[in-house]
Order: sequence, then C-alpha cells, then structure tokens
Amino acid sequence: MSEKTNQQWGGRFNEPTDAFVARFTASVEFDQRMYLQDIRGSIAHAKMLTKAGVLTEQERDDIIRGLGEIRIEIERGEFEWSVALEDVHMNIEAALTKKIGITGKKLHTGRSRNDQVATDIRLYLRDEIDLILSEITRLQQGLLGIANREADTIMPGFTHLQTAQPVTFGHHLMAWFEMLSRDYGRFEDCRERANIMPLGAAALAGTTYPIERDMTCELLEFSAPAENSLDAVSDRDFAIEFCAASSILLMHLTRMSEELVLWTSAQFDFINLPDRFCTGSSIMPQKKNPDVPELVRGKSGRVYGHLMSLLTLMKSQPLAYNKDNQEDKEPLFDAIDTVKGCLRAFADMVPALESKKESMREAALRGFSTATDLADYLVRKGVPFRDAHEIVGKSVAYGIEQSKDLGEMTLDELAQFSDVITADVFDVLTLEGSVAARNHIGGTAPDQVRAAVVRGEKKLAERQA
Ligand code: ARG
Repeated sequence: MSEKTNQQWGGRFNEPTDAFVARFTASVEFDQRMYLQDIRGSIAHAKMLTKAGVLTEQERDDIIRGLGEIRIEIERGEFEWSVALEDVHMNIEAALTKKIGITGKKLHTGRSRNDQVATDIRLYLRDEIDLILSEITRLQQGLLGIANREADTIMPGFTHLQTAQPVTFGHHLMAWFEMLSRDYGRFEDCRERANIMPLGAAALAGTTYPIERDMTCELLEFSAPAENSLDAVSDRDFAIEFCAASSILLMHLTRMSEELVLWTSAQFDFINLPDRFCTGSSIMPQKKNPDVPELVRGKSGRVYGHLMSLLTLMKSQPLAYNKDNQEDKEPLFDAIDTVKGCLRAFADMVPALESKKESMREAALRGFSTATDLADYLVRKGVPFRDAHEIVGKSVAYGIEQSKDLGEMTLDELAQFSDVITADVFDVLTLEGSVAARNHIGGTAPDQVRAAVVRGEKKLAERQA
C-alpha cells in the first residue's frame, strides 16, 4: 500500500484521495461530539469479542485502557483530530493503534463503520432525549407552580383573538401543561424505537464471527438487537421521528411565545417578564423587548427545516448504507441543541413571569365576555337558546352604543330586552360567577384548576418513579 493512501482502507487504492474530496467527504468536524458513545460502543464490542474467543483477555484490557486514555485526551482538548482520518470512528481507532500497537487493529473485527455509526447515533440520541425529557418536566413543574398561584386570576379568554369568555389565568397555563404532556409522550415513544441496537449488522449482511449480540445489547443498555442487518445500518427513521417530535414541541413553544409577546405589549399589558429575560434597544431608551419568546418562535424554523432535510435525505435511498446517511448528523445535532436551548430558556423564564391581575381583569370586563352567561341565564328561565342568543345580541349592541359592559347596565336597561331578567342576573354577569360556573373536569373554575394542578403533580411524580 502506498504511504499516501488512507491507512484504514487504502489497500486497493493507487493514489491518495484528492485533498478537497478528503475534506468534502469527512465528517469528523461534526461527528466528534459522539466520541463518548463511540468509545462506549467499542468497549462493549471488545468485551463481546473476548467472550466469543476472538480477542484474548489481555488484548481486551489493552483496548479498554487505550480507549480510556483517548477519552481523557479528548476531554482535555489534547486529542488531535485529523480530517484525513475522515470521522470520529477512524480517528479514535487510529489513535488506539498508535497507543497499543497491533491489538488496536483487531478491534474492528466483526464490525463495520456502518453498524458502528448507527449504534453511536442511537446511543447519542438516547442520552439527549433523556435530557430533553427532564427539561420538559422542569418546565411543566414551573407551570404547575404558577397555575396554582393564578387559579383565581381572571383574564379574557379568546377565540379569533377577540374576547370570548372569561377564563382563569391558571386554566390557560394548564392548557400549556397539557400540550407539553403530549410532547413528553412523543419523545418517550421516539426513545423506545431509537433504543434498538444495530451493532452486529456489520457492513450490511452480518458477520461470520461467533458474535453474541445479546451481550453487547445488555452492556449498552439497548432494549433489543435490531432484527435485520440491512435495516439496522441504513434507516434513520428514528432521527426523523425525533425531528418530528421536536417540531411539534417547537410549534407548541411558538404558541406560548406568541402569547407571551402579546401579553407583554402595552396593548395587552397582562404580564411582566423579569428584566433578566429581556433586552433593550440601542436607539429607543424606553424599550424592553421580549427577546426570549421571540427567539424561540424564530428557532422553530430551523427545526422544521431539519425535519424536511432528513425526510428528503432518506427518500428513495436503496438498501443498505449509503454515504448520504452521513448527512443525518448536522440536522439532528442542531435540532437537539435547539430544542434543549429553547426548553432551558422557557423552563427558567416561565415560572418568573408576573401577572398583572388588574389589567387582565379590566380587559375581561371590557369585551362583553359574560354574554354567553347571560344567554345561559335566559335559557335557565325557559327561553329557547336561539332566542336567548338574539336577546343578548341586542343587549350587546345597546352596550356598544352606550359604552357599557353588560355588568355595568342597570336592571331596567337589561330588562328592556327580556322580561324574564330579574335582579339575580347580576350573579351571572360578574366575572367570578362566570368562571366559577364552569365547574366540571376540564372547565375553567378555580377549583377545577386546583384539581388539575394536583393531577399534574401526580403525573410528574410518576415519571420520576
Ligand atoms: N462517517 C460515516 C457516517 O457518518 C461513517 C460510516 C461510513 N461508512 C462507509 N462505509 N463509508 O455515516
């Protein structure tokens, strides 16, 4: 073999790789972040090869020691990554051989980079999903805290962003909690399908060595070895699934972001975000901008894009491994980083938001938000719902003309629209009466919010168990 060809696969080559092609095809700049998983996978593989009689115990121990030293060098920033060695796998293997000699060259027995890389990504993703799951839980924990605190706080509820009916702020926050519970479930599902072990598939067809896949599977804490070697080395559906779950999570975070942005505006003035989560303007001295929710809203674009990249990457790929697959990493890694960053920002910020109760209340009083309550009142007094709707519509039109909300009208004013209206109407026209009356599971009544918080706490406690 010529000195100038690649050490690991240069045997059949007559000239070195073109310098640009070497850089163009290399992945080490972005796949080195999987060094821990690569080392862990190699240690498990070496142990299994020893049990299978392929490596001696001495060889195994040398490999484990060498990999341990490499890990420390990487963590201290002393490891020299080489683009000529293409990827994290060959960089570590070459360093091992340099360290322990010929034994290092035996590590790759019964293995290919194809099953190695698929194993590394799954291990990496599994660890990251665990972090994401705990950040979702932390954000939900924060939501439970403020939902409980704000169980009695009244704000306008909206449809079409027009005042619809009064709701409690705690109820609104518990809607966010529900969205996040489903996101949690999606990441759990994704973890389950990612947690299958490709190792042993080798290049594509399996290997002739007497490998024991159950042993590596147990050492690496996978739930099972992949059933089919061709599938194991080639599919990246778990990465697509992760990006899909991430996109839905981000979509939820953008909805929350949008509301936070609206609520902090002077026009709504429902909440205050502490200064530490906001930034100012270099020209307008009065400005305090809700940058964190705005940025989270913007970052959704990246994650949706990564989902599209990965779907397109995998589309029409014939079995088994293709070099295309190397392109799975950057979108996946960036999706992971983005999701973690957004969750961290939200989990820190959300519990710190302060409600402006007076201004929420005033807004709820302004938009005829108890109109449905008046209609329900008429129905309870025997008026058919459609007629009640019409009567209340006329009352609202009168209110708009007189600049009066329903609760601000006198009994005489209200009674001109229906003679069944009597003094007890004011019980339902108050905001408190309106929310308290929606007292069933899933309703906005303060007692229901408190009950939902208790159920939420139980749910989170079960996750820890
Ligand atoms: N760097 C490659 C990747 O990320 C590793 C597997 C390469 N296998 C191969 N036969 N070229 O996908």
